[in-house]
Amino acid sequence: MSYYFSFIFSLFFLFFSLFSGQTLAQTAKQGILLVTFGSSYQQAEKAYELIDQKVKKAFPRTPVYWAYTSKKIRNKLAKEGKQIDSPPLALAKMLEQGFSEVVVQSLHVIPGEEFDYLKQIVNRFAHLPKGFKKISLGKPLLYSSKDVKEVVKKLYPVLPKLNKEEAFLFMGHGTEHPADVYYAGLNYWLQNKDKRLFLATVEGSIELEDILPDLRKNKIKRIYLMPFMSVAGDHAHNDLAGKEEDSWASTLTKLGFECVPYLKGLGEIESVVDIWVKHLQQAYKELDN
Ligand code: CO
Repeated sequence: MSYYFSFIFSLFFLFFSLFSGQTLAQTAKQGILLVTFGSSYQQAEKAYELIDQKVKKAFPRTPVYWAYTSKKIRNKLAKEGKQIDSPPLALAKMLEQGFSEVVVQSLHVIPGEEFDYLKQIVNRFAHLPKGFKKISLGKPLLYSSKDVKEVVKKLYPVLPKLNKEEAFLFMGHGTEHPADVYYAGLNYWLQNKDKRLFLATVEGSIELEDILPDLRKNKIKRIYLMPFMSVAGDHAHNDLAGKEEDSWASTLTKLGFECVPYLKGLGEIESVVDIWVKHLQQAYKELDN
């Protein structure tokens, strides 16, 4: 008799746990918000489309939204009739649409100013009354020292093969933020991979002139120029490869090097986008904690 009761009880318990599990799954509406600095360059779209595709492939049932952190870019695009949300506006809209669990993924390169700002926004939304049940933030491309090593490993095979007299020079953005030191780390692993890979920054501490002695020492004649940024936008087309006298291309040409612009954003390279997607998957797991 007692066996019979315990059997009924287990059945009831099983039914109850299944049922409540199902209700839980139904009430959680999950969404992804991808956040980038933004660019008004047509070519940037290529990178954003690839990232969008790869994220949707990894999360086929989760709606994906976008926001730009740069107000200047958003205003410029608005004038062209393209409305892009800021991160807080995008999150407020998702809240209104009934999303209860959101993963915000940073598409920035380093955890600098833009990432700090995003972290603060996510923090505020985590403590908003009647806000999201859960919200987490995915790391930028380079966060752990493993990321720095990995991006070089993924990037190297897709670069043009270099002969003895050729070098590959990346233009990192650089910043006054302490995270500028990531570029020095990056330079270390680039050089470790191949002595003909170099990196300098537009707004950081490693300047173009800092790498000139090494270019000369290695008897480099031809230099490929590529932005180490998510998109090939303004910095790539003007500061790196532009016709202006102070662009890197003009400066290096004057010094006797032959320059070959290789204007591809990191977001246009599948194996690199995979690192951002991996960080998104990690942030998604954090929702379960
Ligand atoms: Co800039």
